[in-house]
Amino acid sequence: MAILPHPLMIIFVTLMSHTTLSSSSSAAAAAAATYNVASLGAKADGKTDSTKAFLAAWAKACASPKPVVVYVPQGRFFLKNVVFGGKCNNNDVTFRIAGTLVAPSEYRVIGDAGYWIFFEHVNGVTISGGILDAQGTSLWACKTSGKSCPSGATTLGFSNSKNIKIMGLTSLNSQLFHIVINGCNNVKLQGVKVSASSTSPNTDGIHVQASTGVTILNSQIGTGDDCVSIGPGTTNLWIEDIACGPGHGISIGSLGKELKEAGVQNVTVKTATFRGTQNGLRIKSWGRPSSGFARNILFQSAVMINVQNPIIIDQNYCPNNKNCPGQDSGVKVSDATYQDIHGTSATEVAVKFDCSSKSPCNNISLQDVKLTYKNVLPAQASCNHAAGSASGLVQPSSCL
Ligand SMILES: *[C@@H]1O[C@H](CO)[C@@H](O)[C@H](O)[C@H]1NC(C)=O
Ligand SMILES: *[C@@H]1O[C@H](CO)[C@@H](O)[C@H](O)[C@H]1NC(C)=O
Repeated sequence: MAILPHPLMIIFVTLMSHTTLSSSSSAAAAAAATYNVASLGAKADGKTDSTKAFLAAWAKACASPKPVVVYVPQGRFFLKNVVFGGKCNNNDVTFRIAGTLVAPSEYRVIGDAGYWIFFEHVNGVTISGGILDAQGTSLWACKTSGKSCPSGATTLGFSNSKNIKIMGLTSLNSQLFHIVINGCNNVKLQGVKVSASSTSPNTDGIHVQASTGVTILNSQIGTGDDCVSIGPGTTNLWIEDIACGPGHGISIGSLGKELKEAGVQNVTVKTATFRGTQNGLRIKSWGRPSSGFARNILFQSAVMINVQNPIIIDQNYCPNNKNCPGQDSGVKVSDATYQDIHGTSATEVAVKFDCSSKSPCNNISLQDVKLTYKNVLPAQASCNHAAGSASGLVQPSSCL
């Protein structure tokens, strides 16, 4: 039964909404102008090309000397590859997205563009909410069939930018990586969801490289490649509260592909759950000469559920055994701590440190690590050119 409001109540509500409306709109006017992409020509029908409307909204946002909101209402907005950049008169642009951005289902349209949605040289951009649907399945099928296909576009990229926030964003079925942070400073990702098939090729969830001060919090990533991958030149990275699976785990690497390469330093991965993933916590480098390194790494409080390689350092990465003379990695791995890691390995070797004979791993520390093989069987640890220490209860017993 519907309850009819008392007439006084109606007056009250009208008065209330009137005051709230006027006060909030004046506050909003003072704080931020809003540009609705729908009023600039974008169509929420999922098929009309709205790229120009988004660029028009960005141009207006950047022309403003004050903070700006670009608003994307509910519905599906078809978008081709687009670059947001250029000079801005403010450093406070928020994309508030209620709807979904949809990429062309024909993968060739954006497949060679590098990125679908790309931000370059921006300062103070926030993306809040929204779904990015890259419709990558047809490109995956092309790649899996062995035909020649474009390499694919990363769904969302930030390059050479600073003071970036990505909150409550969902990325679906990327052609290539879902989110890439490259050459950035001070980036916060929170409440991000990534979803793609476990068999989708190279669909890394969040890739960070050449960046400092990146924080990834409270995110849920299921995909066909690394949930989070950490490339050369990443420093001061904080990752906390991550659910990963399916996927290839959280991976520092691949490092050491280049002879002259920046290192990875000061990475914390805290409170992560890995479910049915290929790896849990991985450090991976090419078996090639390189100046790269990975040091000051803390892996803390992880739960492994049926993970093939829960803890792994693999310094002999050399796909197709090509271009890896002698297979010795130059990448130095040191000062890595694995603390409070529990759960089950899907393979007998739960802890594997396969380091470089040229630059062995050192100061690796295992503290309170308890991993079993398939829930009940004892697991094994394997070490190659790895030195360090163990403390607390460590099962399988340490080979360091
Ligand atoms: C390590 O990175 C964290 C952020 O993840 C930062 O707060 C801390 O100051 C950094 N430590 C050093 C020694 O730079
Ligand atoms: C070993 O690594 C830990 C953690 O990164 C660090 O605090 C410590 O100083 C390192 N010890 C040596 C001898 O370098």
